[in-house]
Amino acid sequence: MDINLITTQDGSHTLEVPSLKERYHSIHGAIQESKHVFIEMGLRHFSSGYISILEVGFGTGLNAFLTFLETTDKEILISYHALEPFPLPFSCTTKLNYLQLLEAEKFQEIFNSMHHAPWNQTIQITPKYKFQKLPCQVQETNYKTEFELIYYDAFAPHAQAEMWNKSIFSKMVKALKSGGILVTYCAKGDVRRTMQKVGFQVQKLPGPPGKREMLRGIKP
Ligand SMILES: C[S@@+](CC[C@H](N)C(=O)[O-])C[C@H]1O[C@@H](n2cnc3c(N)ncnc32)[C@H](O)[C@@H]1O
Repeated sequence: MDINLITTQDGSHTLEVPSLKERYHSIHGAIQESKHVFIEMGLRHFSSGYISILEVGFGTGLNAFLTFLETTDKEILISYHALEPFPLPFSCTTKLNYLQLLEAEKFQEIFNSMHHAPWNQTIQITPKYKFQKLPCQVQETNYKTEFELIYYDAFAPHAQAEMWNKSIFSKMVKALKSGGILVTYCAKGDVRRTMQKVGFQVQKLPGPPGKREMLRGIKP
């Protein structure tokens, strides 16, 4: 796959896939977007305890790493379950400037260990952070009430429409425990209605800088 490394407006890198005419993050700021959508509106919805997370699209590992950082100063235990059918080459992920910008260079080994993690095996990265990576597509999954939180970080509907249909969101609602939430940067009306049809209570929340809104679905 042809991929270009580009710098977004907050100085953090993202990747661009010319064939899909799509980027891994918002051009307004990759770190800014991930922190807002997944950490502030997702993870911080839960104040303490054990949180089991499903990420749809591991990609650069930015969300997984930001989630790990939250464990360094909070009373949370994370079990992180990441899906990635099209892993990025290490030649690409080693160029990303996230750790420098987050002033987290001392955790370089941890970032690397997520990228190098063997597939389908749970590894205990730190006492508070357990990690598993699966090389499969979300369409192939069949989870039942396993997660508190889903980071739904697929490519946008115009680039990958098949990731935003009723059948996948039915799987996502089943995968969540009652009271669990799904967060996504996408705020399209069609996506919101699809989520409502499969049983999510959907909230429109303020989006990250440069985007008006985002969505959070709650499983009643
Ligand atoms: C918008 S990128 C976001 C990646 C990542 N969360 C990040 O911050 O870098 C979308 C990701 O979804 C992955 N993906 C594509 N099709 C998928 C599928 N059917 N199931 C799960 N993930 C998929 C892509 O390979 C890509 O890594």
